[in-house]
Amino acid sequence: MEQTGATTARTAGSRRSDSPQRTRALGRALGALARPGMLLALIGPLGAGKTELAKGIAEGLGVGTVVNSPTFVLMNEHLGRMPLYHIDAYRLGDPDEARAAGLLDDRQAHGLTVVEWADRLLGVLPAERLELTLTPDSDGGNGRTIEWLATNGEHARLAAETLGAR
Ligand SMILES: Nc1ncnc2c1ncn2[C@@H]1O[C@H](COP(=O)(O)OP(=O)(O)O)[C@@H](O)[C@H]1O
Ligand SMILES: [Mg+2]
Repeated sequence: MEQTGATTARTAGSRRSDSPQRTRALGRALGALARPGMLLALIGPLGAGKTELAKGIAEGLGVGTVVNSPTFVLMNEHLGRMPLYHIDAYRLGDPDEARAAGLLDDRQAHGLTVVEWADRLLGVLPAERLELTLTPDSDGGNGRTIEWLATNGEHARLAAETLGAR
């Protein structure tokens, strides 16, 4: 992995989804190949498909319980082949609140952390992550563009294996 000074190599790409099922399937692939300590930062407006993707990720991890947006509790923990920490930052006032609420925790090194509305937390999230930005087509249909940005080699590999290189 090439690194220059303090600059971490970043890899980006994008792909399309044309249905909720497709988005789920992409999530399943991510969940199946994710390694402990990884962080998936989901970004996109209401209804973009963040929770749909998170449900797929949970399925790929072998989580047996129902995964919904943890909007009211901020974080849900599920157990699959490793723990899934599913965070929803929608209601957070500011990033300091995230620390105070215990959303960012050393335990997350042992599981997979998935953050919805991660753009509200980017400054306090660990720097090594895979950002996934979902943008619905403007025609109001089922089309979504999923742009990804990996900030280290491990997350870049996961993205390449599941979402494809650009
Ligand atoms: N390609 C797609 N990917 C994901 N969801 C889609 C897609 N097309 C339509 N949808 C619908 O959009 C909604 C996404 O909801 P949700 O995943 O809860 O969004 P978010 O968590 O981003 O607010 C669901 O009703 C889903 O059926
Ligand atoms: Mg959601």
